[in-house]
Amino acid sequence: MLSDTNNKRAQFSTKIGVIATAVGSAVGLGNIWRFPYEAGSNGGGAFMLCYIFFIFLLGVPLICAEFIVGRSTRSNEIKAFEKLAPGKKWFLNGYIGVLASILILSFYSVVAGWTLEFFIAAVTGRMPSDMSELHDFFSEFISGNWRPLVWTVGFLLLNYLVVSRGVQKGIERLSNCLMPAMTLLLIAFCVNSLFLPGASEGVGFLFSPDFSKIDSHSLLSAMGQAFFSLSIGLGGMLTYASYFPDEVRLGRCATTTAVLDTFVAILAGVIIFPAVFTYGISPQSGPTLVFETLPAIFMNLPGGAIWAALFFFLLFMASITSTISMSEISIAYFEEEKKLCRKKATALTIGIAIVLGAVCALSFGPLSNIRFFGMTVFELFDYVSSNVCLPVGGMVTSVFVGWVIDRKIIDRQLNIRTNSLPWVKLLIFNLRYIAPAAIALIFLNSLGII
Ligand code: TRP
Repeated sequence: MLSDTNNKRAQFSTKIGVIATAVGSAVGLGNIWRFPYEAGSNGGGAFMLCYIFFIFLLGVPLICAEFIVGRSTRSNEIKAFEKLAPGKKWFLNGYIGVLASILILSFYSVVAGWTLEFFIAAVTGRMPSDMSELHDFFSEFISGNWRPLVWTVGFLLLNYLVVSRGVQKGIERLSNCLMPAMTLLLIAFCVNSLFLPGASEGVGFLFSPDFSKIDSHSLLSAMGQAFFSLSIGLGGMLTYASYFPDEVRLGRCATTTAVLDTFVAILAGVIIFPAVFTYGISPQSGPTLVFETLPAIFMNLPGGAIWAALFFFLLFMASITSTISMSEISIAYFEEEKKLCRKKATALTIGIAIVLGAVCALSFGPLSNIRFFGMTVFELFDYVSSNVCLPVGGMVTSVFVGWVIDRKIIDRQLNIRTNSLPWVKLLIFNLRYIAPAAIALIFLNSLGII
């Protein structure tokens, strides 16, 4: 018999802590760095609409699905699938999650390292205020031989320090107070951007969709971005939910997380694109877009270095609450399945990420010649994890919850005692038919198979 409560496992202590932590995992570089660059590369408005559509059509149901699997089993991802479907092969999905989460952790830490470099540059007054100097400053930095490496490793070590102290203490305290501060700062910058000379062009780019720019690749990217941003598909939300207390209402928590996460992504878009057009940066600059644009905004404000320092510090904090959740996926696995102590499990995860992260960090400079399908190692990890692993993982999870696990477990997790409510029926219908079919269609279509 599965037991819903296992006293030996750590649990989050308060309901607000649960929401703050789920939001802390969701809100991160995905919203502020990845969303604007993906939107910029895929035509702006139409991409954003597709992204929002996927957040609510697929994202919310999939968060619920991961929550159900995680909380009903109170286990790491692989054990969770094993417990719910003993003797079957579903647990293999857990392995994809563990592997892909380490891949994401590696390239994500490179970008998180950039935030640290910018923070220090702002604090020490090294950040130039002239546009072309800013451009040179950034390109020299990312193509360097050692600075990106040092920051990537430094970031991962900081992550180690927080994570090895355990779930409750480390994570909850951090996310509770920082996310609101971050949101307030974003709103202030948003207002500022709306007064820039390129505001109407930027807002137009983001809010007037041109669907001729959407093809199967951009649809896949919008879906991948929705999954990445919500931390779903690899069991990030599943692992967190395994620490949730029983009273937390999963449906409500999933919706709140999705709404807040989308809000932050849109804010980031409204901050970035007016500035992109004001300062003549190409929206299609890719992963470097935001790091070229944001300093330009700050350094043109009175007290620019202070704004820049504050912002990059909070962005670093938002990144660390997300990397904590990524690391937790494999740590829970190493701890519970491989019987390592928490410190060793954390050290192993972070150690692998340091090796892979080092390669990613140098792939803008000394290792930029190593390419697979025309992509650098950084781009490859980014592309494969978001556009292959997350959709595949999401599809398997939706089929699993929709078709395989017992309805009673779902009802119990969603706190339903009597006959199913309409939204639960809709959720199951979605997980059974809509989500798997939509994901498969978009995925195969972009591969050119159908
Ligand atoms: N959602 C985070 C962001 O937007 C990234 C993230 C955290 C993630 N945990 C994850 C992505 C687990 C995939 C899986 O920055």
